[in-house]
Amino acid sequence: MTRTQSLRSSVERLNGYTLLRDPHHNKGLAFTERERDAHYLHGLLPPAVLTQELQVRKLMHNIRNYEVPLNKYVAMMELQERNERLFYRLLIDNVEELLPVVYTPTVGEACQKYGSIFKRPQGLYISLKEKGKILEVLKNWPERNIQVIVVTDGERILGLGDLGCQGMGIPVGKLALYTALGGVRPSACLPITIDVGTNNQKLLDDEFYIGLRQTRATGKEYSDLLEEFMSAVKQNYGEKVLVQFEDFANHNAFELLAKYKTSHLVFNDDIQGTASVVLAGLVASLKLLGGSLTDHTFLFFGAGEAGTGIAELIALDISSKTHIPLEEARKKIWLVDSKGLIVGSRRESLQHFKKPWAHEHEPLSTLLDAVNAIKPSILIGTSGVGQTFTKDVVEAMAAINKKPLIMALSNPTSQAECTAEQAYTWTEGHAIFSSGSPFDPYEYNGKTFIPGQANNAYVFPGLGFGLVICGAIRMHDEMLLAASEALANQVTEEHCSKGMIYPPLTNIRKISAHIAANVAAKAYELVGDAVKCMHHNMRIGGLLTSLKFNAKEILKPVRLP
Ligand code: NAI
Repeated sequence: MTRTQSLRSSVERLNGYTLLRDPHHNKGLAFTERERDAHYLHGLLPPAVLTQELQVRKLMHNIRNYEVPLNKYVAMMELQERNERLFYRLLIDNVEELLPVVYTPTVGEACQKYGSIFKRPQGLYISLKEKGKILEVLKNWPERNIQVIVVTDGERILGLGDLGCQGMGIPVGKLALYTALGGVRPSACLPITIDVGTNNQKLLDDEFYIGLRQTRATGKEYSDLLEEFMSAVKQNYGEKVLVQFEDFANHNAFELLAKYKTSHLVFNDDIQGTASVVLAGLVASLKLLGGSLTDHTFLFFGAGEAGTGIAELIALDISSKTHIPLEEARKKIWLVDSKGLIVGSRRESLQHFKKPWAHEHEPLSTLLDAVNAIKPSILIGTSGVGQTFTKDVVEAMAAINKKPLIMALSNPTSQAECTAEQAYTWTEGHAIFSSGSPFDPYEYNGKTFIPGQANNAYVFPGLGFGLVICGAIRMHDEMLLAASEALANQVTEEHCSKGMIYPPLTNIRKISAHIAANVAAKAYELVGDAVKCMHHNMRIGGLLTSLKFNAKEILKPVRLP
C-alpha cells in the first residue's frame, strides 16, 4: 500500500467513525450491510440490522415509558443530536403525541431548566459581547444555505415570562416543526437566541445560568444590536431568508415587525401566525354558523399581541372580501383589556396597537357588561388569565346566540378562559368551542363534541415553506389570508358535525402542503397584479406613483415563474 493509499484508507475509516457521530447522516442500526461495507462501519455497530420502522417502535416504547414529560423532551433532543432522520420520522409519524413534547407545553419547562439540561449548543447565541462582530458569528455556523431563522430574545417565553438566554428551546422547537410539519430541510434552519441580559433575578442568581449575567439592555443599545443582527443576516444569507420573531415582549414584538417588514422577509408567529390560525377557525365555523364574517360581531378579552393581531386580520379579511374600508370593518370588532372595554374616551392613554380599536361607546369595566352591551356572536379569549369566561358570561353568550362561538385561547390549560366542559354544559351543547391548549372530547346529552385546538403549528410551517419555495423576500398580509383560506378549506362537513373547526393534526403534512401552495400562488398572483399595475402606469406615462412603488415592492419578493 502506498503512503497515499494508506492515508486515504485511514481517512475513510475515520469517516466511518465520524459518520456515526454526524446526526445529519447517522442511521444507527439501520445502516444496511452494503452501507456498513462502504463506510467502514463493521465492528463499530452491533451486528443486528434494524429497519427504521423497528427503530421507531423501539424509541416510542422508550419514550412512552418516561412518566415525566421533561424526560421525554430530553430523550427527543438527544435523538435529534444523534440521528436526525429518526428524530423526524418519529415526530412525523406520532405528531399528535410528540408535538406537546418537543413544543408547548413541555418546551416551556425545558427552557426554565435549560441551564441544567443543556448539553450541546443547538443553535447560535448572539449576545451583547458580540456587538460589532455579528456577521463573523453568523459565519461560525457550519451551514451556509440557510432559509429560515427563528430568533428570540427570551423576554416573554410562552406564558413563563423572561427566561433570558434559556429561551433557546423555543427557536429549536419551532424549527423542528418547520421540518417535521412543513418539510423545510433541517440544515436550512437556524435557531438563534439574542442575549441582551435578563430581568429574571432567579436566573441571575442561578450559578448554572448560561446567559449574560446582567439586566436587559433596552433603548438604543437594544435596537442597535437588533439592527446589526438584521443587517448581518441579510448580508450573509441574502434577501430570501425568512426571519421569524418568536416570544419577544409586547413592545419589541410590534416594533420589530413594523420596522423590518419593509426591508426583510419577517414574520411574527405570536401576532401573525396566531391571527392566521384563528381566522381559519372562524372561516371554517361559518359552515356551522352560516353567513359570512361580516354578519358577525366579535368581542376579544385581552388586547395584546394575539388579540390585536387576530382582530386586525379579521378586519383585513372582511375588508378584502366586501371592499368596505378597513376602518369600517374594524368597527365589527371590540376588545376588552385589563381596564375594561377599549373605547374612544380611553384613546389618549392607549398603547399604539390598541388605538385602532377605540370605538365610540360608553366605558364598561367588566366582560359581562361588554357582552351584554355589544352582543357579540363570537367571543375570543386572549388575556392569559384563566377562568375569566365565567358561567354568567357564557350563559349571556348563549342567551344572545343560537350557536355562540367561544374561543378560549389562553395557554397553558390552566389559563384557558373556560374549559370545553364548561362551554358545552353552560350553553346546553349549543356552543362551538375552540381553545389554545388541547381539551379532550366531551360528551353532553349523548353527543360527543370534539373541541378544536387553534394550534399555531397548523400555519407557520406551511406558510414558511410557501415563502421559501416561491422565493419571496417580503411578507404581505394577503399571504396570511391565503394561509388561513387553505387551512379552513381542509375542514370538512364531517369535522364540523363533530364540532371541530380545525382538521385533525394527524394530516398536518398534507395541510402544510396546501397552505404552502396557496401562499406561493398568492405571491405569484401579487406579482401578476404588480406587473399589470406597472404596465398601466407606464402606459399613462405617470410619474412614479405610490401604486407603482407598491408594485415594485411586491415584485421584489418573488421570482417570476
Ligand atoms: P399579551 O401579554 O401580549 O396580551 C395579554 C392581554 O391581556 C393584554 O392586553 C392585557 O391587558 C390583557 N389582560 C391581562 N389581564 C387581563 C384581565 N384580567 N382582564 C382583561 N384583560 C387582561 O399576550 P399575548 O401574546 O397576546 O397572549 C395572550 C394569551 O393568548 C396567552 O395566554 C397565550 O398563551 C395565548 N395565545 C394562544 C395562541 C393560540 O391559541 N394559538 C397563540 C398565541 C397566544
